[in-house]
Amino acid sequence: MNQKSFDEIFNHAPTTEPERQYYFIQQARQVLKERFEERVRSGEAELIYGKEQLQDMLANEVYGTFCITTFGCQMNFRDSEKLTAILEQVGYREAEREEEADFVLYNTCTVRENANQRVYGRLGYLHSLKKKNPNLLIALCGCMMQEKEVVAKIKKSYRFVNLIFGTHNIYELAELLFQTLTEQRMVLDVWEDSQKIVEELPAKRKYAFKSGVNIMFGCNNFCSYCIVPYVRGRERSREPEDIVAEVERLAKDGVVEIMLLGQNVNSYGKNLQTPISFAELLRRVERVEGIARIRFMTSHPKDLSDELIEVMAESKKICTHLHLPMQSGSSEILKKMNRCYTKEQYLALVDRIRAKMPNISLTTDIIVGFPGETEADFEETMDVVRKVRFDSAFTFIYSKRSGTPAAKMENQVPDEVVKARFDRLLEEVQNIAAEVSGREEKTVQTVLVEEIDTQKEGYVTGRLSNNTVVHFPGEASLIGKLVEVYLEESRGFYYMGRQV
Ligand code: 5AD
Ligand code: SF4
Repeated sequence: MNQKSFDEIFNHAPTTEPERQYYFIQQARQVLKERFEERVRSGEAELIYGKEQLQDMLANEVYGTFCITTFGCQMNFRDSEKLTAILEQVGYREAEREEEADFVLYNTCTVRENANQRVYGRLGYLHSLKKKNPNLLIALCGCMMQEKEVVAKIKKSYRFVNLIFGTHNIYELAELLFQTLTEQRMVLDVWEDSQKIVEELPAKRKYAFKSGVNIMFGCNNFCSYCIVPYVRGRERSREPEDIVAEVERLAKDGVVEIMLLGQNVNSYGKNLQTPISFAELLRRVERVEGIARIRFMTSHPKDLSDELIEVMAESKKICTHLHLPMQSGSSEILKKMNRCYTKEQYLALVDRIRAKMPNISLTTDIIVGFPGETEADFEETMDVVRKVRFDSAFTFIYSKRSGTPAAKMENQVPDEVVKARFDRLLEEVQNIAAEVSGREEKTVQTVLVEEIDTQKEGYVTGRLSNNTVVHFPGEASLIGKLVEVYLEESRGFYYMGRQV
C-alpha cells in the first residue's frame, strides 16, 4: 500500500463510534498481515519467532506479538483489558515477556512520582531491545501521558517511542496503531479532557469468572495532593442501562463476580440527565441473574450515603468489604487536603457502617507527610487507626505532584521526619491487622476459587466475600466456582481450609 491509499483509507473511515474503530481494526489488520507475509518471505519471521511458533501463527492468522505492562489502579487494569482485545482483533497475540513482543505498550500511572521513575527506567531497557529488533513498536498510554512535561521529556529524550496516547482515547487504539504502522514518525494523540463515553468496544478479561465494570470516569473532587482530576478529566457517569446490559452480558459469559469501578463511586449518576444514586444502581445490578458477588471501588467518605449502607446491609451479593480512604486523621490536614470531612465525621461514618454490618471488613488509604503535617496531626492519624482497627491499610508517603495545589504549599515535611512517621504508622497498621484477622477461623464460608495455589501443590486459592485469601486442597476444575470451605486455621492474613 502506498501513501495515497492510506489517505483514502482515512477518507473512507466512518465518523461515528464504535464503527470507526471496527473499521480501523480491519485496516490495521490488513497492514500488519502484509508486513508479516513480507517478513515470512524474507525469512526474518522464522528467525524471530522460531519454526514452531511461526507455523502456529500462520495456522491461526496471527501476525505479530504484543505485551502490555500495566501500572497503577484497577481502572488502568480494566483499560488494559480493552486494549488487549483491540490488539488481538488486529491480529496480535499476547507474548509472555516484552523481550518476545513486536508491540510493547506501557499503560502508565502518575499518582506518585516513583511510578513515573519506574517508567523512565524501563524505557531505557526497551531502547536496548529495539536496537536488537528494529521492528519493535513501543507505545505509551495512561495517566502519565496526560502530563505535558512528561510528553515533552519523551519527545526530547526518548525519540524511539512510536506512539503516545492518553486516558481519554484508549478506544482509538486501532486507529492510532494504523497510523503508527503507516507513518514514519512518532504518533502523538493526547486529549485534555473528554465528555465522550464509547460503548460496545471489546474487552478481553484476565479472569474468565470475574470482571471490572467501569461505571464512571474522571473525578471532580480535586483533593489538593491528587493529580487524578487533571489526568482523568471531569466526572462522567455511564447510563445505568448500559452498565446493567454489560453486567448481563458478562453473566451470560460466565462471570460471577463484578467490581464496579470509579474514582468516587458514591457520586455516581448525579450528573446524568436522569440522575440516579449509586445505591439505586447497586439495586439494579443486584437483580442480574448469575452474578453472585458485587464489589466496588472507590468510595469517598464525604458522599457515602445511609441509603448505600442500607442497600449493602440488605444485599446477599454485595461483598462484606468496604475500602474507605481516610488519607489523614487530622481534621486540620483533611481540610488542607480538601477532603470535605473531619476526623469526627469519618469516625461517625465508620460507626454507622458497623452498626448495620458488624462483620464488614474495612480497608483504607493513608498519606503520611502532607505539607504542614505536625507531630500532633500525625498522632491524630494514629488515633483513628487505633480506633477503627482497619483490616488493612495502604500507606503512602506524600508525593509532590506538580500542578496540584499542595505542591505549592509551604512547610513541606522533611524526608527523614516523613520516613520515621511512615515506619511507625506501618507497624501500627500491621499489628492491628494481625490482631483483627482470623475472625472467621473455625467457621464455614463461601469461597470463590481464583487460581491454582502457586505455593502448595494440590491446593487452590480463593477469596472470601470480605476479600481474605483462602488456600485449600482442590483442583483446577474448581476455578471460578463458589464453594463452601471450613476455615481450619488463620495464618495472619490468609486461611488454610478444607472443602465441606
Ligand atoms: N502522594 C501520595 N499518595 C497519594 N495518593 C494520591 N495522590 C497522592 C500523592 N500525591 C494516594 C491516596 C489515594 C491513593 C489511590 O493514592 O491515598 O487514595
Ligand atoms: Fe484523587 Fe481525591 Fe479524586 Fe480520589 S477523590 S481520585 S484522591 S482527587
